[in-house]
Amino acid sequence: MEEEKRRGVVLVPCPFQGHINPMLQLGTTLHSMGFSITVAHTQFNYPDPSKHPDFIFIPIQDALTDTNTLSGNLIPFIKTLNINCEVPLQECLAQMMDQNQDQHGKVVCIIYDTLMYFSEAVANHLKLPSIVLRTSDAYSSLAYRSVLRLQAEGRSVPSIIQAIPPCIADSVLQDLVPGLHPLRFKDLPLSNFGPLENLLQLVTIISNIRTSSAIIWNTMDYLECPSLTQLQQQYKVPLFSVGPLHKISPASSSSLLEEDANCISWLDKQALNSVIYVSLGSLASLDEAALTEMAWGLANSNQPFLWVVRPGSIRGSEWIELLPETFKAKFGDTGYIVKWAPQGKVLAHGAVGGFWSHCGWNSTLESICEGVPMICWPCFGDQKVNARYLSCEWRIGLELEHMERGNIERAVRRLMVDKEGEEMRQRAMDLKEKAEVCIRKGGSSYNSLNDLKEIILSF
Ligand code: UDX
Repeated sequence: MEEEKRRGVVLVPCPFQGHINPMLQLGTTLHSMGFSITVAHTQFNYPDPSKHPDFIFIPIQDALTDTNTLSGNLIPFIKTLNINCEVPLQECLAQMMDQNQDQHGKVVCIIYDTLMYFSEAVANHLKLPSIVLRTSDAYSSLAYRSVLRLQAEGRSVPSIIQAIPPCIADSVLQDLVPGLHPLRFKDLPLSNFGPLENLLQLVTIISNIRTSSAIIWNTMDYLECPSLTQLQQQYKVPLFSVGPLHKISPASSSSLLEEDANCISWLDKQALNSVIYVSLGSLASLDEAALTEMAWGLANSNQPFLWVVRPGSIRGSEWIELLPETFKAKFGDTGYIVKWAPQGKVLAHGAVGGFWSHCGWNSTLESICEGVPMICWPCFGDQKVNARYLSCEWRIGLELEHMERGNIERAVRRLMVDKEGEEMRQRAMDLKEKAEVCIRKGGSSYNSLNDLKEIILSF
């Protein structure tokens, strides 16, 4: 153990909430296994060091401007991040390794978020091994790789796929993608990222892990076994499926926004399984029309709701100013709106019986692990794949076809009141139990984590 204590692992998270959470949870897990943890973070969106007193935090000069951070265009942002951060990370780590070996432990490897791919070059320069962390599901990676293969074979992906608003019924979009059951063209993780060629360029870069020694996935074998098996055939390095990380190491919160704890007291007053929790994650945004439909759909369903409206997520307003006054008057005590919730505690609360979600991978895992069925409104990227899996394979999610009040009202009632929802809740409880088995001694994720520990010790 003493020997292990002196080994240091450097983590390089991508500065978005859905990426920071699993990386810090992994850090907590590795720390509990005896490694010392250094988090090399950008100046943009960095986690609060005081919430993680066991870690050492080192800032990397990211040289990002407001134009980079406020554009909302993810792909150019990620590209800039990778260009700007390489030299600063290299210099910080070289200095740290020179001066502070005792404090930090001997650094033995860098674990980086797949979107922070510059870290692989830094690791090479410092003669350190590196490992990739994938924070999304395994099936999306397969889908991306299939699209690249189709392209390489000269079969073009219908250009119609880019920039289609989700859930527009169209015969082409409803067609199944050959070889990617059960995905339809509309479920491919390609739209809403700007020009398709930019996305495919990024996917090409991150699909190739170059000299990295392994890939860690925040997923579970029982959920994604066929995808993981296929990926293992494609990648010649070990893959470690170690999820759900939030359950393995319930780290202290790494929320970038302040969590509103009052919503838990409000939940305490609600009946068992009666509340629908609504959150579209940390990045998605809506226009006023969608906000209004959501509001009336929820109010008309007559179910209690806890709704996260992230500040800045409604285009053209700061928070909920655009909500109709008549709606605010109607929902009274039956609804509770917050800027940011302690989501883990909310989903674990007995009053919460359903989750209307954008199906980000963290939210998906968190909901599965609490046995909470979902209404799926994916916004972009892997969320569409997750939504399809939730509704079609695991059958614990209802696909919301249109952001329209009548449709929403019906979906909420189907999930919260009807027998159909009860059956989905039962299936979700079964998945929850399986997740518990995965992380127990001898379970697949437990074993995978031990294998990961061994590989790091072998470096
Ligand atoms: C995006 C992608 O959609 C996701 O699939 C990818 O893997 C990471 O980036 P994001 O919008 O951040 O995800 O959603 P999600 O993956 O669900 O992560 C959001 C995190 O924020 C979750 O861990 C959730 O618990 C947390 N959260 C969300 C809160 O703590 N409070 C809230 O009010 C809302």
